Parts: sequence; structure tokens; C-alpha cells
Amino acid sequence: MKYQELYDLSIQNPEAFWAEQANQVDWFTQPQTLLSADAHGYPLWYKDGSLNACYLALDKHINDGYGDAVALIYDSPVTQTVKKYTYNEVKSEVARLAGGLISLGLKKGHTAVIYMPMIPQATFAMLACARIGVTHSVVFGGFAPHELAIRIDDCKPRVIITASSGIEIDRLIAYKPLVDEAIELAEHKPKKVVVLNRKLGARIPFKKYDVDYDALVYGSEEADCVSVESTHPLYVLYTSGTTGKPKGIVRDTGGYVTALKFSMQKIYGVQPGEVFWAASDVGWVVGHSYIVYGPLLNRNTTIVFEGKPIKTPDASTFWRVIAEHRVSVMFTAPTAIRAIKKEDPNGVFIKQYDLSCLRTQFLAGERCDVATLEWYREHIPIPAIDHWWQTESGWPMIANMMGVEYLPIKPGSSGKAVSGYNIVILGENGQELDPNEEGYVVIKLPLPPGTLLDIWNDNERFRAGYLTKFPGYYFSGDGGYKDEDGYIYITGRVDDVINVAGHRLSTAEMEEIVASHHSVAECAVIGVNDELKGQIPLALVVTKFGEEIEHFQLQHEVVKLVREQIGAVASLRDVVVVNRLPKTRSGKILRKLLRSIADGENFQIPSTIDDEAIIGEVREVLELAKVGSYKG
Ligand code: COA
Ligand code: AMP
Repeated sequence: MKYQELYDLSIQNPEAFWAEQANQVDWFTQPQTLLSADAHGYPLWYKDGSLNACYLALDKHINDGYGDAVALIYDSPVTQTVKKYTYNEVKSEVARLAGGLISLGLKKGHTAVIYMPMIPQATFAMLACARIGVTHSVVFGGFAPHELAIRIDDCKPRVIITASSGIEIDRLIAYKPLVDEAIELAEHKPKKVVVLNRKLGARIPFKKYDVDYDALVYGSEEADCVSVESTHPLYVLYTSGTTGKPKGIVRDTGGYVTALKFSMQKIYGVQPGEVFWAASDVGWVVGHSYIVYGPLLNRNTTIVFEGKPIKTPDASTFWRVIAEHRVSVMFTAPTAIRAIKKEDPNGVFIKQYDLSCLRTQFLAGERCDVATLEWYREHIPIPAIDHWWQTESGWPMIANMMGVEYLPIKPGSSGKAVSGYNIVILGENGQELDPNEEGYVVIKLPLPPGTLLDIWNDNERFRAGYLTKFPGYYFSGDGGYKDEDGYIYITGRVDDVINVAGHRLSTAEMEEIVASHHSVAECAVIGVNDELKGQIPLALVVTKFGEEIEHFQLQHEVVKLVREQIGAVASLRDVVVVNRLPKTRSGKILRKLLRSIADGENFQIPSTIDDEAIIGEVREVLELAKVGSYKG
């Protein structure tokens, strides 16, 4: 079937379409009700089905005779390790860890936080939770204790699973003291902390709540998979919103499993048995969907890569991994390709490896700029596919569906709507816009299976954030347009969320932290264009009247504060002092105007501006500080 025919089927008769996809899944109880609704009318999929995601990712393949196939390859240039695990081996460790978690009192309905670097045990911990119906919440290792504490207080884990350390290029980061600090900061106190000692020399302060990972695994019996209902929350994954508080995106089990299996075959075009590599982190949605669940559900070999595209040890790492493990399909963020391109502009390293195994390169996490796409295609002449999705969707919404039909690529566009997603561009008043008119990217309800179920503990925020702005539609938070051929171009966020090196961050959260500095009267944090990371944050600060603080000292202290509260991953380096901020007459900071000034874009002066003279003042300060488009 061609793309258009499949897509039309999915939109015209979603129930029949997703009934067929559900038949590809081995349910414990096959769902009879395909599409229903929650108390507020929000669509639910496969409500009366029951299954287990860990069973489908591991046990099923073993039962089918593939126990000795390689499930996972751990490739860690930072520890110079390559280790392969068969499905039998993964299942054995996961089932015993699950048994160990049961012995710590965990059971279906409880939550567990996982705070780990990119090591196989991070995926084992996720699968062990899924095995016994415990909802996991993985927190990215680059987040500081304060961020971890916010998540602990929100999802109230009974247990935290962590490791002694992570490695950032050549820097050992001791995780255990960070976990202890987070527990101290949090109001909710987990009962146990399971610690994997990586024996890399990191300090592991002992606390009464500590349990040794190895002892727990080796001292426990294998636990069986428990049957959970389709709408059972497999995980909560926190992501940045437009306020200082991250939102816990809740993922169901049945819809997710069905959608991931569909996406592996129809979007990524991967057949069972092939090697699939998503070079991301289990702390992000890409890691959940395409390092852990997607490839394992589809019986692929997945790669857990502990390293960076550059400096571990150099810009050849990605090509080595692809050639060595015979990767068929790969997924990374454009920022990673930009980093490689910067170090190896002529693709000298690429020529040193046999990449004939690589069929398709997928890119997502941020807009893929045309220069990056073209550089890739010049050096590796295979389809390089930009595709668009979010933590909320859990799987791609716009893509070139490589397992269905390879459509011509239009650089700058992430492709056409994926089956199940009725993507529409609306104007401010909710009217559908004409081709090439830029507006809000929304999706007509019902969303397909596998997308967000709710926000953990905050259904009101869920409805207010996604469903109220345009009734009957899911509001993505992104702007964009569709051309006359149905290709969609994402132009960027329309809210205060920014995307730094493929990491989604909230400027509102950074503003709260910057404003807490004792010398700051008010501030605005905006995302400005950056050649490598796509965007980076810039803080514009007005100091308190009479406050005598040198600019360099203020900058140093503000940067330190943000690193301590959010983590180094926030990448805030530029702090400039202005006399005042541009505001509307009613006192609202004109952030969009600030972004345009900093990015050197043309803009119309808003009619509501309080005082136009301020535009020149801000420009002068940015020029002097050499930030944004004034970098020189
Ligand atoms: N634990 C601790 N610290 C971390 C971390 C982690 N897991 N991840 C990042 N950091 C730190 C980095 O060490 C760095 O610290 P520094 O400011 O002291 O140097 C800071 O956070 C910023 O990290 P990052 O944004 O990753 O920048 P970088 O300069 O180290 O690397 C890239 C730049 C482009 C190579 C890197 O960002 C990258 O590989 N990006 C791809 C992202 C991705 O895959 N995203 C998933 C979506 S598909
Ligand atoms: P996250 O939830 O971290 O995956 O971030 C999702 C956001 O990243 C989206 O709302 C977009 O703003 C941006 N994004 C992800 N993929 C793309 C893409 N292919 N093109 C443009 N923006 C993207």
C-alpha cells in the first residue's frame, strides 16, 4: 500500500486501522473496545485489553525461539567497553532485578525513579519495573539534584535506582551524592535507593536506605510478568512546559506498544533481527521509545551508546559504531551531525569506515537545517530523514514513512503527517489556514494510540495546556505551515520552551532561577540561534536600584546558580545587564521582540510597546557583549 492510501485509511476509519495494528501484538487479553473516552471525553485506546510491555520486549521473543539473538549492545567509548547481551541474558537479569524490587516492597501501582547514565542497567531497570507493573520515571542524568527533587516530589517513588557514576567525555560524575542531595531537598522520601557500583572510583556515600544493585539481582528469584490493563501507566516522563514546573507526561501501555511496533516497521522500515541505533539518552523520550521499547518490541538489536558524537575520542565514533555493529537504521539529533561536521568538515573519518550496512539516517529533536542535511547527503548518500515528534506524542507525527513509501525529500520540511495524525494548521481564531500560511500546528482528535494519556497528578493542566486553546484539537506548542503537497514545515515553538542541543528546556524555569539572585530586579531569558546547539539561552537582567555588582561577577553567579539548580545541560553562559526590558503598556515583557533583536531578524515594532527607544538600547548592549547575532 502507498503512503496516501494508508494515511487516508487511518484518518477515515481509525478504529479499523488500529484494530489491525493491535492484532500484531500478543495481548494477554485482546481488547474488544478499540476507542473510548475518559471522563472528560479524551480518547482512550484498547481500554479493556491487558498485556505486559516487558513480556513483549523479551519473553515473547525467547518463547518464539530467539533467546540467543543479540538484544542489546553496550558500546562505551568512555570506558572502552563493548558488551553484547542476548535476549536470554537480558531477560534473566531483568527478571531477577524485578524479583529484587518486589522484595523491596514494590508492586503494581507504585512508582520508581531511575537516575542512571547510559549503561545497560538503565534499560534493565526500566524493563524490570514494566515487568511488575511499576510505573517508572527516568530522570536524565544531566539534571541537578534540585530538578531530581521536583520529580521525586511529584511522582513519589518508593524506590530510586541509580549508579555510582556517569562519565562526561573525560569527567567522572558521581551520581550517588546527587541522589542523596535530591532526597534531602525533596519532601517525599523514597524507602530505598538501589545503587549499581560501576567501580570507576566515584565516591559512594553510604546511607541507611542504600541497597546494592548486584547483591539485589544475584540474591533474587526471577519474577514473572504481571498482566496490566492497556491504560496502565508504563511510565511518567517529565518535560519542560511554559511554567517553572516540569510536567509529567503519562504514557499508557497498550496503545504505546502497538504504536511503537507499527512505527518500527512502517516509519523506520526496520525488520526484526536488524540492528537499530538511536544515539540519544534513556532520559529523553527518544531513549524510551527507540533505545528501549521500540527496538526490543520489534525484536531488533538495540545499541546503548555511552559517549558523544565528538571527543569520545573524536568525530569518527558514530561511523565506527555503525560499521562495527552493522547498524541498518540510525537516529540522532541534527546538533550531533553539526558537531561532527564542525570537527570533520570534509568527512575524512567517514571514508575510513564501511557504512554499506546503513540504509537510512533519521534526524529529530529539533529542526534540521538544510546545510546539515545537505552535508550529510554529500558524505553519506543514503536517505537522511528529518521527522517531527515530541515527548507528548511518544512516536513520530510527521515523517517520511520509509517502511511504506519513500517520498521525495523537501529540505526544511519534516515530511508528511504520519498515519493516525490528522495534522492541521490553524490561525489565532481557530480557522484552518491555506497552504503556506504559517500558524499553530495542531492535531485533530482522536490522537492515535501511544500518545500522552495525561499529566501526572494534574489533569487540569493537561486539558488547559493541550486541549483548550482549540477545542477538538491537540495543541502541539509548535508553529509551522503546510505546502500544497501536504509537506509540513515546523518553524519553532510558539511558547517559552527552547531546544538546546536537542534538549528541551523551559526559559520560564530559568527566569525563576535568575530572578532569585539577590541583585536581580527583573529578567528575561530567551532562546537565541546558535550554530552548533540550534538554540542557547540568553539572560537579560535588570539589576536592583543602587546594587553595585560588576557585570562579570553577576554573570558568573547567575550561570552558577542555573547550573546548580537545573544542571550543566541548561548551557546558560550569556548574561547581559540592561537598564530596562521592552514591555507592553500593560507591563508584559516582549520576549518575541527580544528574540528577534538578538537573532538579528526583521520585525515589526509592536503597537503595544511602552517605549520604542528601548529597542536601540538593547541592541547596543548585545553588540557590546557580542551575543546572539552580534557574535561577530
Ligand atoms: N550528565 C552530566 N552532565 C551532562 C550530561 C549528563 N548526562 N549531559 C550533558 N551534560 C553536561 C555536559 O558535560 C556539558 O557540561 P559543561 O558545560 O560543563 O561542558 C553541558 O551539560 C552541556 O552539554 P551538551 O549540551 O551535551 O553540550 P556538549 O558541548 O557537551 O556537547 C553535543 C554538544 C552537540 C555534542 C551534544 O549536545 C550532543 O551529542 N547532542 C545530541 C543530543 C541528543 O541526542 N538529544 C536527544 C534528542 S534526539
Ligand atoms: P521533546 O519533547 O524534547 O522531544 O521536544 C519536542 C520539541 O522539539 C517539539 O515540540 C519541537 O519544537 C522540537 N522538534 C522535535 N523534532 C523536530 C523536528 N524534526 N523539526 C522541528 N522541531 C522539532
